[in-house]
Amino acid sequence: MLTIERLSHSFRTGQDETPVLHELSFRVEQGEMVALLGSSGSGKSTLLNLMAGLMKPTRGSILIAGQAIDKMNENRLAEFRRTHIGFIFQSYELIQHLTVRENVELPLVFQSVASQERKQKALALLHKVGIGDKAEMFPSQLSGGQQQRVSIARSLITNPAIVFADEPTGNLDTKTEKEIIDLLIDLNKNSGITFVIVTHEHEVASRTERILQLRDGYLLENSDQAGEAG
Ligand SMILES: Nc1ncnc2c1ncn2[C@@H]1O[C@H](COP(=O)(O)OP(=O)(O)O)[C@@H](O)[C@H]1O
Ligand SMILES: [Mg+2]
Repeated sequence: MLTIERLSHSFRTGQDETPVLHELSFRVEQGEMVALLGSSGSGKSTLLNLMAGLMKPTRGSILIAGQAIDKMNENRLAEFRRTHIGFIFQSYELIQHLTVRENVELPLVFQSVASQERKQKALALLHKVGIGDKAEMFPSQLSGGQQQRVSIARSLITNPAIVFADEPTGNLDTKTEKEIIDLLIDLNKNSGITFVIVTHEHEVASRTERILQLRDGYLLENSDQAGEAG
């Protein structure tokens, strides 16, 4: 589903080149749920943004569903992102003047899907993530956990090959955090959705099938989990 080969990335600021990721190689299989664990500044968001096609890597390759996204031109990549990649942000990134349902429908608007079909799909997904009754409300009328459920529904509406989540519970209290991770696990187990979840919290990471651990831009060896940490 996802193959990363010798991926390196540096940021250029003025004359300086700051290396952030160093020759990372790993795979994520279809239907897996993987945590990308590392402390602040270890390069997690950089790696996630590269894998989601939001930036181009300095070196190395990124294959999603067999397609090398690092080799695509801007138009092709934008189209690929819209149809194959879902993204969940820490701060939800909902559009405040649209209703919950309209937010979830938005990715389909860009694909010119007819409004009746969009509406049906959005309502079905909102029901699936447990907030079917909130469809006609606005984001500001929802709790943080409910807003994150909206953003999860939005990430799934195009049936993406893979969904990336950057600290999806970073703004939530412990109880809501658990509920959101429960939901992601349920979507993974019962709908087969492939997830890569970035977190700096070991408690969150330990609930996934596998942990990839980043330290100072290096992937640690033996970061696969054998069994369950609990
Ligand atoms: N746009 C940028 N320009 C320069 N340096 C950056 C940029 N984005 C991130 N960095 C640097 O890259 C390193 C990793 O950042 P990041 O990927 O955001 O880490 P994490 O998400 O693990 O906290 C940090 O040292 C950060 O300062
Ligand atoms: Mg980050």
